[in-house]
Formats: sequence, C-alpha cells, structure tokens
Amino acid sequence: MEKNNPSDIETQKMLSVSAYLLIDKELKKYPFDQKKSAVIASLAIAQREKGFVSPEVEKEIGDYLDMPPIAVHEVATFYNMFDLKPKAKFKMVVCTNLPCALRKSKHAINIISNRLGIGLGETTFDNLFSLHEGECFGACADAPVMLVNNHKMFSWMNEQNIDALIRELSLSEPDITKNKEK
Ligand code: FES
Repeated sequence: MEKNNPSDIETQKMLSVSAYLLIDKELKKYPFDQKKSAVIASLAIAQREKGFVSPEVEKEIGDYLDMPPIAVHEVATFYNMFDLKPKAKFKMVVCTNLPCALRKSKHAINIISNRLGIGLGETTFDNLFSLHEGECFGACADAPVMLVNNHKMFSWMNEQNIDALIRELSLSEPDITKNKEK
C-alpha cells in the first residue's frame, strides 16, 4: 500500500509538516492497516499546534488516517481533553470522580468559581481562564486534583493552593503548562 509522505504535504494544509512528522512517529507504533489507532495521538498533536480541534483539522486527520471525518469527530467529542473551539489561555479542569469528590473537589470548584466569577464551562471575560469538570487523572492520592491546559497537574487543591495557583498563572505564559515534545 502507498505510504504517507510528509514531504508531499501541500502548504495549504491546516497542519504543519512538523505536525505530520509527529503523527508519522505515532503511526509507526501500529500496523499499517491500523492507522486509525493513532487518532487520539494525532488529535493531541493537532490541538497542541492549532490550540483547538476544528472540523477542518478533523477532516485532515481523517484523510491522513483513512477515517471518515465523523469517526474522528466522535473521538474528539468523547475525550474532554480535546477542545472543539478556541479555549481560554488557561483551561482549568477539576477532577470530580469519587476519590477527589470525597476530598472536596466540589468545594475547590466553588472556590475557583468565586475567585474568577465564572461557572463550570465558562470563560473569564479576558479569556484568561475557563473552568471545567473532569474525570480521574490517575492521581487520586493527591486529591483533589486539577489539570491545566491538559498537561500540568496540580495536587491538593485547597483554598490556599488555589489562590497561589491563580496568582501564578495570571502572571505567567501558557507555555509553563505544556510538556516538551518528546
Ligand atoms: Fe480524581 Fe482520581 S479521582 S484523580
């Protein structure tokens, strides 16, 4: 079968050649006829580059992985780490699954909500913060836990830690919450 070649990618594509090279690295992990196995990783690469996953990006990934755009869309809408619209500079996601709920994650949400003047699913007027509920991040021992920009985890979100974090983020660049590409 014909192999995808990033050097053949036309310049009018939504994603850059470097993004395609990263997607190709993911594709190497799977048999050639199982390209769709790389869809989550491809969406994550696309989101890191574009800031969110637009329908055009979903289609482009679908074309590259031989998947119908609707199948890519189903994955993008299933996982709440994917943003389908431009997001705030800092997307704050508080885990509300049982171990975090037992350690007062709802209270943490209320504190953040009061400090920022926004509810769940809302964004501050300056587009700096948005607040969301999330599922277990696998760090239950640190409950309640918050994830910022899908990459950086913050533990023990009590009032003091929340205030310190909001202060720190207000003064920082979004890149501090991103992991470096491996
Ligand atoms: Fe919150 Fe596991 S339940 S991190």
